[in-house]
Amino acid sequence: MSQLQWYPGHMEKARRQMEEKLKDVDLVIELRDARLPVSSANPLLEKMISGKLRLIVLTKKDRSDSRKTAAWLFYFGEENVIAVDTLHDDVRQKVLPAVRRLLEPKRQKALKRGIRNKILRIMIAGIPNVGKSTFINRLSGHSSLKAENRPGVTRSLSTIKLEEGLELVDTPGVLWPKFSDPDCALKLALVGSLNDQILDRIDLAEKGIAFLQKEYPGLLKEIYGLENEEGDLLEKIAFSRSLLKSGGEADRLRTADTFLNELRNDKRYQVTYDTCPAGE
Ligand code: G4P
Repeated sequence: MSQLQWYPGHMEKARRQMEEKLKDVDLVIELRDARLPVSSANPLLEKMISGKLRLIVLTKKDRSDSRKTAAWLFYFGEENVIAVDTLHDDVRQKVLPAVRRLLEPKRQKALKRGIRNKILRIMIAGIPNVGKSTFINRLSGHSSLKAENRPGVTRSLSTIKLEEGLELVDTPGVLWPKFSDPDCALKLALVGSLNDQILDRIDLAEKGIAFLQKEYPGLLKEIYGLENEEGDLLEKIAFSRSLLKSGGEADRLRTADTFLNELRNDKRYQVTYDTCPAGE
């Protein structure tokens, strides 16, 4: 899913499909990457869900800078946003209380109209690779993952029962990323949410290294032994890792790929790329 290509036709189709699904939904859980709380948001979602309840969940908290994540939670307002390590946290326990709280007014309204067993529906939405499938599995609890097609509903949605009166639409809303903004596209590419094959990986790695040099110089020292160094850092990494061509010069492409792979997968990188306007 992470390697999806988006064209205007795809975007229009995705928008229409999501709008259709949203008709039956009471609350949208918008997943964003904790490393990119703004850059991983979809520009049109706001409009598409206007009037719906929304909870923002920042995924991959374990890969983000905890100090910056705390600043972002404060910035968004803690009652509207939760940060999770989807792989290790108890997602149900972290997320369901907020969902119940947000939906309570709807439940009360239904009760006043005499509807005691109102079923409320939630949809998960987010850009590719943000962790939607993982989140759906964890929120539903693997054992209960049994999609049901309820007969009798006009637009039949495949849903997973979360608890009494609460259902999860089992197909996530896939949103396109903000690739038209070069700064967002760069950050999305650094976390691996844009297709590498269409990018200049050497240029991307150099930009990633420049970002680390400015924001996280300690990591360049810890991981590559680079200390306050100037000049061509990609080449220095190539030499420190012996990523050389047969003539002895740096193999820049192999070094760029190694660096990008580590930046995305090595747990030592706990990095947040978006700067919180409220500071830290
Ligand atoms: P999607 O449906 O939105 O496309 O995302 P999906 O759940 O497939 O998750 C994408 C990748 O992100 C998966 O890695 C998944 O394990 C990882 N992931 C999801 N949530 C978290 C989290 O909170 N922390 C960390 N560290 N990783 C998370 P993958 O299986 O390696 O797939 P891929 O990256 O090779 O595509």
